[in-house]
Amino acid sequence: MPISPRPTRVEACSNIALIKYWGKSSLRRNFPAVGSLSLTLREFVTTTTLEASDEDQFLLDGTPMAPEEAERVLELLHRIPNRSRVLFSTQNHFPTAAGLASSASGGAACVLAIWAGFSLPWNYSRIVELCLRFSGSAPRSLLGGFVLLRPDPSRRKVSLEPVPSPLLEALRVVVVQCSEGRKEVSSRLAMEQSRKTSPFYPAWVSTHKLDLAQAVRALRKGDWELLIECMEHNTLKMHAVAMTSRPSVLFWNPITLAVMRLVQEKRRQGWLGGFTMDAGPHVKIFTDRENAPLWQGLFRELPGVRGVFVSAPGSSPRVEVEGKVIPWEPVKL
Ligand code: PMV
Repeated sequence: MPISPRPTRVEACSNIALIKYWGKSSLRRNFPAVGSLSLTLREFVTTTTLEASDEDQFLLDGTPMAPEEAERVLELLHRIPNRSRVLFSTQNHFPTAAGLASSASGGAACVLAIWAGFSLPWNYSRIVELCLRFSGSAPRSLLGGFVLLRPDPSRRKVSLEPVPSPLLEALRVVVVQCSEGRKEVSSRLAMEQSRKTSPFYPAWVSTHKLDLAQAVRALRKGDWELLIECMEHNTLKMHAVAMTSRPSVLFWNPITLAVMRLVQEKRRQGWLGGFTMDAGPHVKIFTDRENAPLWQGLFRELPGVRGVFVSAPGSSPRVEVEGKVIPWEPVKL
């Protein structure tokens, strides 16, 4: 008799890196060359459901997934011998693959849905590893708040650590959508191109630990100024590495630049906020709940901006099996 999954539903929040990972030390294991520090976002949620079905179906926002997306789910399902066919459906409650890190929440939700639905004996570090294979940012969506991901190449593992901060509760992220549609180049390809060809890649790797340490210190102390300085520096360094790859990878468009300029200008006038951008043109502004409406109002008026969203910090995923919430406690082993 094939093994059927119990009906399972997982909600996982996406995350945005304040200090980025860019580049892998192992392509096969998708192992990051540097650590990263992120914030989990409450309003950017992926919901994934899994149930038995007559045929395998993989849906993203109600339509069949692209083959390479379905392949990542199948890679996990191949680990289950003699399984029934499944209906695997994922819904992103935000624009997909436009640099808003849907691969992070999508990856975490996928691994947890398969683990819970099939009651697999995966422990915490196995779940982290499988999320990492899905995408470098996915393990960070397993925890809430600020999350530090550190690679340990000698053990071929990454560790995850929540970073407590007095800034967390009041923090808000304003996401300024600077284009429509999916991104032109995947971060997976772009970062490999950077590793192989950018003359600045070695400097990116060798200076990265310092950025992480400074940002963690800023969070622990509640030092906005230091946090913004490190975050913007690290973001611009990552984009400089991408831009100086051959061929060049330029994620920004004129709206991206206009938003960055406005953030700097308003900051000089006393507004609280700093920017970061991932592998796409959108700008995310870290600010607090008092300043968030100011940024929101400003960018809604800026010509060319497609949307402005605000998110509070999010928590770890919610896993429901047969309608009952099951504890998803990331217990360190
Ligand atoms: O999660 P991936 O492998 O698609 O890469 C994400 C890379 C960045 O978003 C640019 C940086 C990060 O640390 O999230």
